[in-house]
Amino acid sequence: MVRGRNPFKLRTLSRRTELFGESHKKALEELESLILEGEPIVLLGPRRVGKTSLLNIALNENKNKICYLYYDLSPFMGQRAINVSQLVVTKSNLLAFSEKAGFRINLKIIEGWRERVTTSEYSRELLNLLRELHGRCDHGAIIFDEAQTLAFLRGLDFRGVFQLIMNSYDNISLVLTGSMPGILSNYLNPEAEEAGFSRFFNEISISRWDSKTTEEYLRKHIDIEEGEVREVSLSLSNVPGFVAMYGHLRWRGLSHSEALSRVYEKAVSLWKSDVRKFLTVYSSHTYYYLLLALAVGSPIGLRYSELMESTFEVAQKMGSSFSESSFKRALRRLKDAGFIEETETGRYLIPEPPLREALRRLRL
Ligand SMILES: Nc1ncnc2c1ncn2[C@@H]1O[C@H](COP(=O)(O)OP(=O)(O)O)[C@@H](O)[C@H]1O
Ligand SMILES: [Mg+2]
Repeated sequence: MVRGRNPFKLRTLSRRTELFGESHKKALEELESLILEGEPIVLLGPRRVGKTSLLNIALNENKNKICYLYYDLSPFMGQRAINVSQLVVTKSNLLAFSEKAGFRINLKIIEGWRERVTTSEYSRELLNLLRELHGRCDHGAIIFDEAQTLAFLRGLDFRGVFQLIMNSYDNISLVLTGSMPGILSNYLNPEAEEAGFSRFFNEISISRWDSKTTEEYLRKHIDIEEGEVREVSLSLSNVPGFVAMYGHLRWRGLSHSEALSRVYEKAVSLWKSDVRKFLTVYSSHTYYYLLLALAVGSPIGLRYSELMESTFEVAQKMGSSFSESSFKRALRRLKDAGFIEETETGRYLIPEPPLREALRRLRL
């Protein structure tokens, strides 16, 4: 049954009206007003929860007010080294502004359209650009989506640029998003004892939906039974990106079980690729053993000592072992990266069922 345009959007959202959920709407308002105030922002949240969509809406709906430059760094998530020539600006309205405002900058270099750019050329143009944004725009914004990857940029340390923006350009908002909050925080504050952003950045966190929001979102456009909603909510953990996929398929006429199993499989394969990329960068086997121990362990999670014991067993089966310090490091990093969550009662668990399944199926 085909009934006009599918209301369940799978692509990055670009309009306010497409955004569902009270907490997402509140986060959007906060994001817009902080950008307009020229504040530094970190936008945090798990994968596929709506970070990029939120930003895209904020920029799109204010494109006549804000001169912006948007770097999508998500393609570099499995890469150990990035150089400035690879930094392509994926979205910007500077060309349009440039004609009006008469920027004196070489957009080709900044926007990444020239094949070979040296680090010093790049920095020079970036500094020029910041000056021009400061002088000729009411509001500027520089956005790095999945900014934790900047830790792997060679030759140029953006932290110096961030410092400069924060110290000298009060109309330019620096926006960093991260689905690996702890890793982003370590990159920004390598010295700090406690990882955190509070000193410099305004933090906006978006979470997965709750089951009520999932239900309202689906009920808005399709008839769905209570038991079906419960299943969707449980197996997809109320992740907006996956719930949207499910709604999309139901709208196209697929049955509940068919739609759910397709989305579940898709989620498993996306997670598999995310984990693979992460393990390429952090290549110690301990990470894998630890994840596997959690994935086959109780879904309500394991305590520290139980987790260490199970991880040892997994390693042993594979004819290997590790030290407690490497276990601790792996646990911390995996938490930083959002693959593991720690509950209030001190249990470690894997937050989404498709991620558990992806880990069980993963072969290194
Ligand atoms: N609040 C929302 N309302 C409706 N759909 C959403 C919402 N948040 C996310 N989505 C859906 O989830 C998908 C993934 O979101 P995205 O912005 O790419 O997440 P992230 O950047 O956090 O990984 C979007 O393309 C959209 O289909
Ligand atoms: Mg994103």
